[in-house]
Amino acid sequence: MLDRLQDTPPDALLALIKQFAADEREDKIDLGVGVYRTDDGATPVFAAVKAAERRLLDEQDSKSYLGPEGDSGFVHALMPIVFGSDATMGGRIDGLQTPGGTGAVRLAIAIAQKAGVTRVHVGTPSWPNHIPIITDVGLEAPTFSHAKADGSADADALLQIIRAGREGDAVLIHACCHNPTGIDYSPEQWDEIAEALSTSPVLPIIDIAYQGLGEGLEEDAAGLRKVLARVPYALVAYSCDKNFGLYRDRVGAFYAKVAEPAQLGAALSNAAALARANWSMPPDHGGAVVRIALRDEEMRQTWLDELTGMRERLRWVRSYLAKADGKVDGVPLGHLEDQNGLFAMLPLNKDQIAKLRDDHAVYMAGSGRINIAGLTKGNIDKFVAALADVSA
Ligand code: LMR
Repeated sequence: MLDRLQDTPPDALLALIKQFAADEREDKIDLGVGVYRTDDGATPVFAAVKAAERRLLDEQDSKSYLGPEGDSGFVHALMPIVFGSDATMGGRIDGLQTPGGTGAVRLAIAIAQKAGVTRVHVGTPSWPNHIPIITDVGLEAPTFSHAKADGSADADALLQIIRAGREGDAVLIHACCHNPTGIDYSPEQWDEIAEALSTSPVLPIIDIAYQGLGEGLEEDAAGLRKVLARVPYALVAYSCDKNFGLYRDRVGAFYAKVAEPAQLGAALSNAAALARANWSMPPDHGGAVVRIALRDEEMRQTWLDELTGMRERLRWVRSYLAKADGKVDGVPLGHLEDQNGLFAMLPLNKDQIAKLRDDHAVYMAGSGRINIAGLTKGNIDKFVAALADVSA
């Protein structure tokens, strides 16, 4: 029976982790998988997380099951950060904890399917796991263009999908720090998107995995909030993997926004049933840590300061690269300064990407995506020189 299975290649992005580790060159540069790095190239545990973990270790008196909803205190502590001061919108938003943002996306797609969605439109390029999740759930994933050649967001393509949409359609939208392009919709474009969605049957599914790493916690959630203020129904997939540095602890949340408070119970009970069938319960540790950190004033402030430091460093890398504009033939760098988050796409072909790896020990995704957090004061000039070499 199992002999019917064909080999499936490993996820190319995750495979880079191993390839990079196996490279013995000392000056190697990892611009692959999306993890934040300090200027020393490290991905340390946040001080706020360490403090919360210490408290958890002291105070946790049981590791008994919590149920498919996970840690509700975590889910609710996060809500004002995501949705603003009226976080429940009058009892119309609630959610549950998921294993990472991936679990939240999976749950959102599965709930959408249960509610009658048959296809989820995806702006491409997108996170390479989006379309596999949608098709694995059994839905179609038609695509539209996310960005224009000039490096701006192609809001018209999204608006067309929303305006032409029919019952049974959903659209997956990145809230901020678009992965892989770094190109976000402008505030004016979000106004138009929210307006178009308000009169469309298309269900918005908003993926917010990098809040705080773009322009600020509030700014990065502004588009999402505009949409939620206008639409009757929406699903939100949240990740704390990056903005709390909890990657391997898999910390995420799924939220549903409904038209009437009375509809929330059905949305959440379906989500809980799907969670139970998929993973039964989310891992507890990371969610408990985030709950503790957000509820304690001092830890919360430490977290906010750490997040600000990360954001400022990412902006430094972006502006440094932008200043190198013109030094690399055929690879414009100036627009990187206007983009957000961990990622940017460089117009490099497969041979150039292979040459960067083989000749310069620079590792990046085969799509041309770089994780800009992999660049530091110590390696950024080497990277620009390597780019210039492969583009010459
Ligand atoms: C990335 O895009 O690099 C991250 O979101 C990690 C992942 O799971 O792909």
